[in-house]
Amino acid sequence: MAIISKCLFPVAGYGTRFLPVTKAIPKEMLPILAKPLIQYGVEEAMSAGIYAIAMVTSKHKGAIKEYFQPHPEIEASVAGTSKQSSLIEINNAIAKCEFNYIQQPQQQGLGHAIYTGQPLIGNESFAVILPDDLCINDGASVLEQMCELHQQHPDCCIVAIEEVPIDEVDKYGIIDGELLGNSNTVYRVDNMLEKPTPQDAPTNLAIIGRYILTAEIFTVLAKTKADNKGEIQITDALMTLAKTGKVIAYKFQGRRFDCGSVKGFIAANTILAKENM
Ligand code: UTP
Repeated sequence: MAIISKCLFPVAGYGTRFLPVTKAIPKEMLPILAKPLIQYGVEEAMSAGIYAIAMVTSKHKGAIKEYFQPHPEIEASVAGTSKQSSLIEINNAIAKCEFNYIQQPQQQGLGHAIYTGQPLIGNESFAVILPDDLCINDGASVLEQMCELHQQHPDCCIVAIEEVPIDEVDKYGIIDGELLGNSNTVYRVDNMLEKPTPQDAPTNLAIIGRYILTAEIFTVLAKTKADNKGEIQITDALMTLAKTGKVIAYKFQGRRFDCGSVKGFIAANTILAKENM
């Protein structure tokens, strides 16, 4: 069985769409209801049986590390009150997961952040969660669905995809490919474009923030050149592997909220508040 045991969280970005708050508070600590985005991500990893959490952070993101540590004073202050239950989930994550951190020295793009995480991953396939894409599903979580697919394609990288309105393709990595076998959710990728114009986009199938990557991605990332903004794009590295048939795209079951934008973040809070409060 091809088991994924580590999940990488690249969380070193500046979160400029959320300025001014991200001057002092990491985007990943912004709450959906009272729970920060990063915790939803860690819980999704746990739902897929992954407890080794590798965070690529920056010197501005100390709050994330602090969050995944016990807080004896607060625990004592709510002990025996109705508020005690608010800490059950975070304390469960702290107890069950092992958290490791590495700093990305400069914000040189998602591909560079993933490459920076290599010492925490080693030479094995791993999951990646971008916590600002909040994924919710009543059944198996999106990462759980992808880990299951990985069993059938252990030598391939897998990207989660979703259909987006054609006038929004320029915000995403867009894939093209052929549906595999009888499936209507799994594609063999043969082309990928980073943020194409609607005219240049081959499809409206957008990559969202869930990946399963083979260790081969590190070798490819080491050779991937920066784009015109000086960023190393994971899409460019994946395109190199797609040329040899080693990238699968998966149309997942569930809902995704783009919490990296203020509009998507407000939508997630509004919808989930209606459903849960
Ligand atoms: P985004 O493109 O959303 O960038 O990164 P950002 O800095 O977080 O936010 P904006 O666009 O300025 O508002 C996608 C993911 O990649 C991580 C981010 O933390 C986020 O999880 N990332 C991006 C890094 O870890 N390092 C980078 O150099 C760039």
